[in-house]
Amino acid sequence: MLACARRGAGIAALDIDAARAASVADEASAAGSPRAVGFGCDVSVEASVRDGYDRAVAALSSFDGVCANAGVEINAPLHEFELEQWRRVLDVNLIGVFLTCREAVRRLVETRATGSIVCTSSPSAFVGFAGGGNSAYAASKGGVSAFVRSAALDYAPYGIRVNAVVPGATETPMLVTGRDGAARANELEHIRSAAQDQIPLGRLGHPDEIAAAVVWLLSPEASYVTGANLVCDGGLLAKSTNDF
Ligand SMILES: NC(=O)c1ccc[n+]([C@@H]2O[C@H](COP(=O)([O-])OP(=O)(O)OC[C@H]3O[C@@H](n4cnc5c(N)ncnc54)[C@H](O)[C@@H]3O)[C@@H](O)[C@H]2O)c1
Repeated sequence: MLACARRGAGIAALDIDAARAASVADEASAAGSPRAVGFGCDVSVEASVRDGYDRAVAALSSFDGVCANAGVEINAPLHEFELEQWRRVLDVNLIGVFLTCREAVRRLVETRATGSIVCTSSPSAFVGFAGGGNSAYAASKGGVSAFVRSAALDYAPYGIRVNAVVPGATETPMLVTGRDGAARANELEHIRSAAQDQIPLGRLGHPDEIAAAVVWLLSPEASYVTGANLVCDGGLLAKSTNDF
């Protein structure tokens, strides 16, 4: 979002944490956005998403790019997973993407506007991780990666592109706070050192590196790209853990 602001785009930041959305909007203004607003919005609730778009469009007049990026991670061994927790992950990560994208395409088609939508997937859409307990998150992100292919085909005739970015392990609050929300800042050094050993580029990703891919997908420079899963993971998915 800030990367878009630096390029002079108007910004509407929507997050379940309204204070966080407002502070992102402030940062976007400081970074050069001519108009930046932030509102509370729960992407898993249909009315909240509709209201978020209403408020965003009222503030910005129109839009041509959307990032469906909200996500949560709750991990547990399958036999211990509570249905409520499993459903929450799917509600935010997959239903949230559906509601965010549906509202975007409805409005773009209605106004005969073209646009670009970028959803956030994960390497766990494509491979299993030995850490385990990842069934809900992996299922949700697998759904996102499949969803963009299907939506891309549906909306190509309208000039609306739909893609996913696939970030590897990236130093964001999700990575630092961890799966169950418990603070694990003291584990960050351990995570960095594991990244050095296990990620081909030898380090965690930086949010700016993922943002650069998103900005590119949103931009006219990616005008021939739709239905893609753009992997930005330091080589993680390219690597087999087996040496034979
Ligand atoms: N950090 C990583 O290593 C990594 C790797 C691959 C994919 N991802 C994905 O990247 C995206 C961004 O994650 P992040 O790492 O910046 O984590 P983060 O926890 O910093 O950000 C997630 C954001 O989603 C918001 N959110 C949660 N539930 C919401 C809801 N119901 N409605 C609206 N907003 C909601 C949170 O308030 C938070 O601001 C997620 O989709 C995540 O799954 C992250």
